[in-house]
Amino acid sequence: MVGVSRYSSSMGISTVELETERLTLRQARADDAAAIQSYRSLPEVSKFQSWTTFDAADATRLVDDQSDLAIDTPNFWYQLVLVAKVSRSVIGDLALHFREDDHRQVEVGINLAPTEQGNGLAAEALQCVLNYLFGELGKHRVLAITDAANENAAALFRRVGFRQEGHFLDHVLFKGSYGSEYLFALLAREWQTSASETSGR
Ligand SMILES: CC(C)(COP(=O)(O)OP(=O)(O)OC[C@H]1O[C@@H](n2cnc3c(N)ncnc32)[C@H](O)[C@@H]1OP(=O)(O)O)[C@@H](O)C(=O)NCCC(=O)NCCS
Repeated sequence: MVGVSRYSSSMGISTVELETERLTLRQARADDAAAIQSYRSLPEVSKFQSWTTFDAADATRLVDDQSDLAIDTPNFWYQLVLVAKVSRSVIGDLALHFREDDHRQVEVGINLAPTEQGNGLAAEALQCVLNYLFGELGKHRVLAITDAANENAAALFRRVGFRQEGHFLDHVLFKGSYGSEYLFALLAREWQTSASETSGR
């Protein structure tokens, strides 16, 4: 599924660029703002996310927050954008939250432009990021929280090997009413087992 995953850093350890067969993943920068806004502002993308509207100022704030932010900085969301190799367009984003209380645990979240969904691109990007987090950064556990009604997101995390650890019923106020969420997680040892099973096939 994943093709090539290549890691390279520039400016010392501060940035990272990852490659899959169809995508380049790199830190969001100022000239990505318009592309990010174009899909994040769509109701299909915002439906299960914290925002309802996503305007130009929101997009600018998102990319500005990334300037000079080093990957693996505790208590920050590091925002990668997914760039399609063929079109060279930004078609999605994948965020990594490096936890402050336990630096070997990382939360992930992902958005893909609706026109690009249904092609395995989110799974391809996530698999590559997992290889990086476990393989290069030596992380212990990666987790994701999804709205329990967000079937595409749950399917994605299951597809790449996450376990469902929790189902919280009506526990969070979300857009005016109580919502339910799933907690997904993947441990380094589970990732290693699945990687060796795949390579042994
Ligand atoms: C969550 C989200 C990123 C999933 O995107 P996605 O494109 O469905 O995910 P995948 O990359 O795993 O693609 C899976 C689909 O591609 C299909 N597919 C086509 N070619 C494929 C390939 N080469 N490899 C794998 N899957 C492929 C699969 O069959 C599957 O289709 P299905 O949904 O009809 O069963 C997307 O729905 C999204 O951006 N939602 C809005 C934002 C959001 O809610 N994010 C979640 C927050 S955590």
